[in-house]
Amino acid sequence: MKILTTIFCFHLILSLACCGNPKASDKEASCSLKEALGDRFHIGAALNINQIRGYDTASLKIVQDQFSSIVAENCMKSMYLQPEEGRFFFDDADKFVAFGEQNDMLIIGHTLIWHSQAPSWFFTDDRGNDISPEILKERMKNHIYTVVGRYKGRIHGWDVVNEAILDNGEWRKSKFYEILGEEFIPLAFQYAHEADPDAELYYNDYNEWIGEKRDAIVDLVKTLKEKGLRVDGVGMQGHIGVNNPSTDEYRSAIDAYAAAGVKVMITEFDMSVLPSPRRDFGANIADTEQFRAEMNPYPDVLPDSVAMRWHEKMVAYFTLFLDQSDKISRVTMWGVTDRDSWKNDFPMRGRTDYPLLFDRKYQPKPIVRDIMDAAATRESTPGK
Ligand code: XIL
Repeated sequence: MKILTTIFCFHLILSLACCGNPKASDKEASCSLKEALGDRFHIGAALNINQIRGYDTASLKIVQDQFSSIVAENCMKSMYLQPEEGRFFFDDADKFVAFGEQNDMLIIGHTLIWHSQAPSWFFTDDRGNDISPEILKERMKNHIYTVVGRYKGRIHGWDVVNEAILDNGEWRKSKFYEILGEEFIPLAFQYAHEADPDAELYYNDYNEWIGEKRDAIVDLVKTLKEKGLRVDGVGMQGHIGVNNPSTDEYRSAIDAYAAAGVKVMITEFDMSVLPSPRRDFGANIADTEQFRAEMNPYPDVLPDSVAMRWHEKMVAYFTLFLDQSDKISRVTMWGVTDRDSWKNDFPMRGRTDYPLLFDRKYQPKPIVRDIMDAAATRESTPGK
């Protein structure tokens, strides 16, 4: 505890000194992540419903002060935007976009076509049978046109398709795939581009560092490009653990996507300290497990040794992102503080995890200062 407290106090003093010193004008004096990282990549945060509806003002203050980009953690997924066919619900999404505009942020739309958190009506008829490919195309088109069209010119980029490829490189056998085959992916990109020709369009996935999956995503990007479709980037979700994957595995994937001619974004970054059911467990939200106490080792406090390991791995990751900032346009954290992280409930409900940059008391962890310092001292390779 003592070591961390000392580091934290040191960082706190440093930040206060920087923020309070009107003469400090260079990057060493950066008082926020967005200021420090500004010429490298956007630094984003996912907003939950309490933030979007304005209830969690402490988190919102952090978002306004520290982050330059936002994405909605849930409220723009199809089950929320179109709970019944033709009945759209935009109240939360409208608030989310308005918040981004008021704060001059890069606004990201998440996500148009995804097998999870999609309403069941999307794939079935009145009798519960699978619909025809033609009807599914119509529903996809209508959903994408309505949603993307509503925010035309206001949302910078869309996660058009989420998680269509399995870790072994095969297509995920989702309802979209079962009914339409792999054609559902180019169609989604085509519809999104038709609905807002200026919006950036991304393919987003988890475990995107695994070789077979990485190669399949690269092939997908090439296929989309060969078809003449717009695809601007690959989103690497980045739900990782303190032990896995290695930064080298990540670096190879970043290089591979960049070599395919697209921007790379780290779109849902968090680093769990908790034991994982397996090394490459991933982030398919249907893969849940029963709570087991031995899988929840830090219910009250994170031991210093683990906090230090997390800190060092986080430093290594942000150092990698800074080194690769000619390829990376955005790093988005999947949440603001540990208290709200989805990792407390995935893949097991009711655990206590510590995966984000701000702690349960809304305080910056020492990593925040270290990221700012790393940005100030490393040579700039602007990537935006
Ligand atoms: C998660 C949210 O964080 C949770 O609140 C929700 O219950 C399930 O979805 N990959 C994605 C995100 O693309 O949309 C998921 O978000 C996490 C995995």
